[in-house]
Amino acid sequence: MTDRFEIDRMVDTDRGVISRELFVNRDVFDAELERVFTRAWLLVGHEGLIPDPDDYFVSRMGKDSVILTRNQQNEIMVFLNSCPHRGMKVCRYDQGNEAVFTCPYHGWSFSTNRDRVEVPGQLVGVPHFEAGYSGNLDRVKWGLPRCPNVINYKGSIWASWDPDAPAFEDYLGDMKLYLDTALDHRDGAPGGSELLGGVQKWRIRCNWKTVSENFAGDLYHGISHQSANLAEIGMATGKSRRDALPLRHAIGFEGLGHGGLGFPPSYEERPFIPDQYGDPEIDAYYKQVRTARERRLGDRMRVGLVVGTIFPNMSFHADQPRSLAFAHPISETEVEMWRIYLVDADAPKAVKDMLRHYYMRYSGPGGMTESDDMENWTSVTAASEGAIARRHGFNYQLGMGKEQPVEGLRGAVDSGNYSEGNARIYYRRWAQFMKEMSWDDMAPPQTKSTVEVAHGD
Ligand code: FES
Ligand SMILES: [Fe+2]
Repeated sequence: MTDRFEIDRMVDTDRGVISRELFVNRDVFDAELERVFTRAWLLVGHEGLIPDPDDYFVSRMGKDSVILTRNQQNEIMVFLNSCPHRGMKVCRYDQGNEAVFTCPYHGWSFSTNRDRVEVPGQLVGVPHFEAGYSGNLDRVKWGLPRCPNVINYKGSIWASWDPDAPAFEDYLGDMKLYLDTALDHRDGAPGGSELLGGVQKWRIRCNWKTVSENFAGDLYHGISHQSANLAEIGMATGKSRRDALPLRHAIGFEGLGHGGLGFPPSYEERPFIPDQYGDPEIDAYYKQVRTARERRLGDRMRVGLVVGTIFPNMSFHADQPRSLAFAHPISETEVEMWRIYLVDADAPKAVKDMLRHYYMRYSGPGGMTESDDMENWTSVTAASEGAIARRHGFNYQLGMGKEQPVEGLRGAVDSGNYSEGNARIYYRRWAQFMKEMSWDDMAPPQTKSTVEVAHGD
């Protein structure tokens, strides 16, 4: 089921047919953990979760539990959260502040502080060290395995276990232009965001790719959200979120697997930033957001994205309001979703309150729009596990043949309003990983990027 031939048969984007086995098969899932999640760059957190030295946040990379932490020297690091002695979780909390991680099983302890250890993560405490090990135990070798690649990209923290992984910005390619709209401060300065509330976590009975594919660019499922839209749950007064939007385009990045719904640089209509909230302070804030954006981007101000996915399992809502989502694989038919919400740290309290309410009614486990999606995804999964259902591949033919290159963006393809072009790009990338291609062999086309987004004034 997971050899090269089978993968090409299961992902047939020339015909626009993808096997259901991708979403229900245990062998496929196990191979993904090894071939996708040990190599790709994965979102593991945000600096707002670990603002101070010794702060930690327990995250996940595939099915591996990892500790994201900031040491006393302010270096951000990621360690495997599994004791080298017998595998116990050395950190059993979700988040906190700890100078030393002590395993609760037999008591080995580990430090990241360079004043105490040569190699961060190394063993500093071993009960009965003399009596049990005669003082002979390699404290570095038996330290916590450390992830070799970790980057703080505008406050978002990403990691890859593969020492040969390309630089994060190469992995991102020109999708960076769109991810930046989720991460940058309203004046264009990198970062400058804080988290609104904590991390929402919940599980859904569906495959992780079902979620990531949807956020990569499914504009076709408007019917699912009609009741939520009728309830006018949007940010601005008298409008649902979707009413305020001009029709978006599916923009995908061939060879990288990323994609989203938004506007190519040449787009003519005005971008989405509503500015009537029925509250003068909030109206003034969003007027400022719009003005800052126009000043920053000039005639490129139309560039924007509403929702997108960075391959394999990170999705985001961009451009005020902003949120980052993780789709952690649990099993072939279960995903653990995490969602964090961003706001400019210096936004007025009225804006933060408005956004907090909006996020709760729109997104997350209780959000009206996300609930619609979850209902679909769990039902898709339950109805695809049967022996007969598995024989019938899914149809991914929407918008086939309409793909056009996007001028100025490397490898970018605009496949129009109603298209599964981004999903086809996503699964072609998935197939590359599953066939264990080298990074060189799966490098994206390298035409020169001409669109740059300037930051700050
Ligand atoms: S499992 Fe951690 S000290 Fe034994
Ligand atoms: Fe949706």
